[in-house]
Amino acid sequence: MMETASANLAHDEFVTIRQFIYDKASIVIEDDQHYLIESRLAPVMEREGVQTFRHLIQQLQQPASEPLQNRVVNAITTNETYFFRDVKPFTVLRDKVLPQLIERRRTERQLRFFFGGCSSGQEPYSVAMMLRQSFPDLATWDLKLIAVDISGEMIRRAQEGCYTQFEINRGLPAPLLVKYFERQGLHWRLQQTIRDMVEFQEMSLVNIFSQLADIDVLFLRNILIYFDEKTRRHLLTRVEHVLRPDGYLIMGAAEAPIFYSTAFETLPGDSSNIFCPKSSPPNSTRIKL
Ligand SMILES: C[S@@+](CC[C@H](N)C(=O)[O-])C[C@H]1O[C@@H](n2cnc3c(N)ncnc32)[C@H](O)[C@@H]1O
Repeated sequence: MMETASANLAHDEFVTIRQFIYDKASIVIEDDQHYLIESRLAPVMEREGVQTFRHLIQQLQQPASEPLQNRVVNAITTNETYFFRDVKPFTVLRDKVLPQLIERRRTERQLRFFFGGCSSGQEPYSVAMMLRQSFPDLATWDLKLIAVDISGEMIRRAQEGCYTQFEINRGLPAPLLVKYFERQGLHWRLQQTIRDMVEFQEMSLVNIFSQLADIDVLFLRNILIYFDEKTRRHLLTRVEHVLRPDGYLIMGAAEAPIFYSTAFETLPGDSSNIFCPKSSPPNSTRIKL
């Protein structure tokens, strides 16, 4: 292990804080990422009036330190996201996956979506708007969209559903802006009817799976990169168990379950990072792209 202690953050302090973040959020900080801890935690320390990392560690170890612990984890997470990110998975979901899934669920009239690491909500809200816009008949179905993130700050932002012009410009089609958003000063607020479609929870992905079952579409995008291989394998095993046999797993542009699990396969002819369990129905009843 490289000992690259910096002037402010001694190596033993780095190791302690890194272990705390791993225990709390399963997020891995590499040996050479002293700068990450220093730069992300400096504003937290300033706000808390904490002068040194040693003092911060002492505070984190106090019995009533949960709010500070959460602030530290919030500061470390990277929350990059935007509406309809990567476009293609959403197009395939709308044009191919959902029409066939809806057909298969026509009797039970129930659909369950899950979003792991939802950040400020653009990903689940993209799907909620799509459901309203393209599948209005589903309004009478039992729909559940569950979205979790470890960052309480992001979950509060997601629940608020209030976005800057910059965030709106990143991926939101103009017709959806006109139809589902209202201006509030310098921001745009998503209509309550769409906000109400998504149930947000502040929770680690590692802990949520015992509460889930029968998921039809599971988004796990741009989050596995923060975890070590053991956690990634563990999470994909959990995904395998909560996803319905004919459900779908949607991952990020550069991601695939194959590295951590043999239980999933790509859809025939697909390049949109949508996967299904190998135990799913034979090809004849499987979606064709
Ligand atoms: C880069 S964002 C991806 C957001 C969205 N999925 C997307 O692709 O646009 C990753 C999110 O994962 C969250 N995260 C990191 N570790 C987590 C954990 N252990 N449990 C739940 N969320 C976590 C971060 O707070 C962050 O908001």
